[in-house]
Amino acid sequence: MTDEAHGFATEQVHGGFQPDAGHGARVPAIHMSSGFLFDDFDQARDRFAGTDDGYTYTRLGNPTNADVERRIALLERGTESILVGSGQAAATIAFLGILQAGDHVVAARSIYEGTKGLLVQNLGRLGIEVDFVADQRDLDEWARQVRPNTKAFFAETIPNPKNDVLDITGVADTAHRAGVPLIVDNTLATPYLVRPFEHGADIVVHSASKFLSGHGAGLGGVVVDGGTFDWSASPERWVHLTSPERSLGGESYVDRYGSRAFIVFARDVVASRIGPTPSPFNSFLLRQGIETLSLRVERHSANALAVASFLEQQPEVTSVDYAGLASSPFHDLAQRYLPRGAGSVFAFTLDGGEAAARTFIDSVQLFSRMTHLGDVRSLILHPATTTHAGKTPQERADQGIDDGLIRLSVGIEDVADLVRDLARGFAALRGSGVGAGGVGAVGAVGAVGLEARVGSDSELASLEHAVPGNHVIAEEL
Ligand SMILES: Cc1ncc(COP(=O)(O)O)c(C=O)c1O
Repeated sequence: MTDEAHGFATEQVHGGFQPDAGHGARVPAIHMSSGFLFDDFDQARDRFAGTDDGYTYTRLGNPTNADVERRIALLERGTESILVGSGQAAATIAFLGILQAGDHVVAARSIYEGTKGLLVQNLGRLGIEVDFVADQRDLDEWARQVRPNTKAFFAETIPNPKNDVLDITGVADTAHRAGVPLIVDNTLATPYLVRPFEHGADIVVHSASKFLSGHGAGLGGVVVDGGTFDWSASPERWVHLTSPERSLGGESYVDRYGSRAFIVFARDVVASRIGPTPSPFNSFLLRQGIETLSLRVERHSANALAVASFLEQQPEVTSVDYAGLASSPFHDLAQRYLPRGAGSVFAFTLDGGEAAARTFIDSVQLFSRMTHLGDVRSLILHPATTTHAGKTPQERADQGIDDGLIRLSVGIEDVADLVRDLARGFAALRGSGVGAGGVGAVGAVGAVGLEARVGSDSELASLEHAVPGNHVIAEEL
């Protein structure tokens, strides 16, 4: 690809591609090799010394993995990235690239429960402390949680299941006033919906298992550096980056690598030692997914808006947590940061608690009952008895996880089919007498031109229009 600026869809297909000198393969090969040959004695020495750029061992670098690292860094407008085996590995590498025993993190309470557990149970045992911000919109609360030993802020651009969009610039500015970087998990937005670096974030992590892959066929994770945080401004805070290093001939990482200090340390000292190396086969699958990212995320978001609008009109639904809806308290933030769509992972709450949720979830046929997100297939889950089952009822209540709350990850299927499937859930509720009851409910999903009517006999009567592009005019159930 030439150096001229290209659009997202062009970059997701061509970005970072380096032609295969050996065979001219248009699609880069899968280099399933643990190690790489040295031509001779001197080359082995030079590769270990870092004066020869070639590969040595896949845990330290692999051409298939490097190809994906270049593309993701480009799409995020970062400087470099490190590909790892899962999203949890990415968060771990990012944290351990910055933190040591005695340090403190301020994180949004809305983050993925697995990352919370990583901070509390794993890093906590290593002497790293964390405090959570209950209302991430409250910038004063972020500032109040800062201590002298605070070393990082952490949040997600689109948390799940509440779709409570992050004020990236507000939180980044607060972090920078405290002299620390903001690490953002951009899994559920993807760089197609928002590039956190453009709004002040310093480090981005992803579970590439989700939208970046889309196919749901393999896990992956990535740490991306924005290359903008000044690690030399307070040298005493980042002693591992600013102290003389024997392996660098007495220079520090900052001396040798400047603004690259964090990502080089995270790659060479953290990731390569801990070893969450992705299989090159999984990296290849991830790269195949990235090539259609914008097309999928556009469709995911359009479908999600249609589904959310439909749900909002059903009498059994007490709330829909989707920032794409004008009724959401996060709508303004979504308009500011996510003009292309608010993603497709969100929740809605049924009147009738767990019994209603059970009836609903057991009635759908197209939505897959499973815990995963960002798949091309639509997924459904009951957080109170699964992802958040380990919380006390009070903790769930504090996070707005009602017993009747259902999480959706809306896929790229025909939206008319998705609405019809959800209508099965409402029909079952009406038949079972659980919940508010919605005799004769009529839902008009005007935002995207889809209308769905749920008949008084608890059957979905018709779908009269569909999301543009779905080409469904009228269907009977
Ligand atoms: C926002 C977010 N970040 C990170 C992860 C962890 O990713 P992985 O399952 O790839 O380790 C998840 C998993 O659901 C997630 O939702």
